[in-house]
Amino acid sequence: MKKYNNVQFNIKNVGESVVLEGWVAKKRNLGGLIFLDLRDRSGIIQLVVRPGQKDYELASGLKTESVIRAKGKILERESKNLKIPTGEIEVIVDELEIFSIAHDLPFEISDDTTALEDTRLKYRYLDLRRTNLKKNLIARSQLMHIIRNFFYEEGFIEVETPILCKSTPEGARDYLVPSRINHGSFYALPQSPQIFKQLLMIGGMEKYFQIAKCFRDEDLRSDRQPEFTQVDLEMSFVEEEDVISTTERLLAKVFKEMKGIQLTLPLSRMKYDDAIRDYGTDQPDLRYDMKIQSLNELFKKTEFLVFQNILKSGGEIGCILVKNSADKYSRKEIDKLADFMKTYQVSGISWLKYIDSDFSGSIRKVLSDEELSGLKNQLNIEENDMLFIVADKYGITKTSLGALRIRLAHELGLVKRGDYQFTWIVDFPSFEYSEEESRYVACHHPFTAPKDTDIDKLLNDKSNCYSKAYDIVINGYEAGGGSIRIHQAEVQKKMFEALGFTLEQAKEKFGFFLEAFDYGTPPHGGLALGLDRLTMLLVETENIRDVIAFPKTTSASCLMSECPNRVDQKQLDELEISVVEKD
Ligand code: AMO
Repeated sequence: MKKYNNVQFNIKNVGESVVLEGWVAKKRNLGGLIFLDLRDRSGIIQLVVRPGQKDYELASGLKTESVIRAKGKILERESKNLKIPTGEIEVIVDELEIFSIAHDLPFEISDDTTALEDTRLKYRYLDLRRTNLKKNLIARSQLMHIIRNFFYEEGFIEVETPILCKSTPEGARDYLVPSRINHGSFYALPQSPQIFKQLLMIGGMEKYFQIAKCFRDEDLRSDRQPEFTQVDLEMSFVEEEDVISTTERLLAKVFKEMKGIQLTLPLSRMKYDDAIRDYGTDQPDLRYDMKIQSLNELFKKTEFLVFQNILKSGGEIGCILVKNSADKYSRKEIDKLADFMKTYQVSGISWLKYIDSDFSGSIRKVLSDEELSGLKNQLNIEENDMLFIVADKYGITKTSLGALRIRLAHELGLVKRGDYQFTWIVDFPSFEYSEEESRYVACHHPFTAPKDTDIDKLLNDKSNCYSKAYDIVINGYEAGGGSIRIHQAEVQKKMFEALGFTLEQAKEKFGFFLEAFDYGTPPHGGLALGLDRLTMLLVETENIRDVIAFPKTTSASCLMSECPNRVDQKQLDELEISVVEKD
């Protein structure tokens, strides 16, 4: 077994004999001396092979990324490199052994590689040799260790739940697995262990956790993968506060141990409706300000027809004030922002600049002097401030300005690295209206308990029914979410009815689950953190692929193993499946 790690050695070890194993990261021949940078998981150490030494020829023929073993003695270096931990020493090699010779590589292994991501994904095992990715995986492993310790210390038990499950409606699209034995039937891969963890509570486990693989066939984004990992927990005999404070203690431990950051508990909270009002999203990034402000009151008597019509139809005039930035936005830049806003179905974006104590901009001429001075006072506009205004339906105004807020903050460099801002989002609505399906769907999932005071609204007043759900948001990412569950069979049935399932449909899809509620169900609730997202936040990357050893591309494929792929006809025949070829 490998005995040493490269970076465990330093100037104090001069004179010691060592045996080192690893990859040849670099080779140089300087005046006959051969210098090799030997890389192992811990880092780099310099090896030197002198002319005349036994394995000199072997060393001079070595190709980079070959795997070797070197025996030698540690000496102090003449020219030191203080940028690396072993930079004051080198190992004079007595004996060299080659384990395997590397061919020419598809790309150079370097930390500032310019190789295309597709190439790196195809040769992921090579990419993993780079310091950044290696560090990320080590951080992820450390995170899982801390999480497990925390739950064991708090009396949770770790239980694995099935991967071959029953397909259930709601949520994202399922990944299906055909059954060979049960012809024509399918398993679904779990979107989360939700039903099982609730059944574990009914089964008397009281406190459960799992680091669970989840699968969702949904459109991918930079923070989404089709296959991802949740830190899943569920507890019996609890209220919202218990789950929230348990999660806070876990996060405090993680941030303390991994980042040296002491969180101030309890973390801040924001109501869902307020988050939408002020930030246009239920995942607000609180590292910068620029709240969305409403101008409805100010323009309620406006002569400007566009605003007038929006207000008449119950819409919203909202704005974002960008301090001291008017000079940074040329017409061209503003046009780019307007194009960006179009993706949010906004009909138009208005803007005003305040320069040399005067307003200019797209709606300067149509606003009255009173309106302009009203704006100046209400928003406290100062020299060189820039104002973006959207007037549209409430949802569109908020969502589009919310997206603009994020873009502006990034463009203007307002996002500080290493800053972490947490907030709980609470008081979620139970339902949201799906334009696509023309019906109300569950905002979280159908097992989320409504607020005690809103149970009666489940069937008659859905848009005013709020739930016992909570999300934890860190730096604009939904890092986790959960809820107190419905534990009375009657309320659960009502919920299914509210979601438009007939009792038969609910029984067919969730029958086993509904039945379980008839045999003694403790009040319970839980939460799931996205392990990948938490790791992203901790290692400060915005690409989820950077924290997953073997990720999928945005088209849900693995470039390395080339999956998904066609399978043999024999396999299809066994499953009695035929593939219909599209023209
Ligand atoms: P939810 O669907 O909110 O809740 O998921 C919990 C957390 O999982 C992460 N997450 C993802 N991460 C990467 N890629 C994805 N495609 C992806 N989808 C979700 C997010 C999210 O906050 N069963 C409930 C939890 C509960 O109620 O206890 C659930 O799955 O960080």
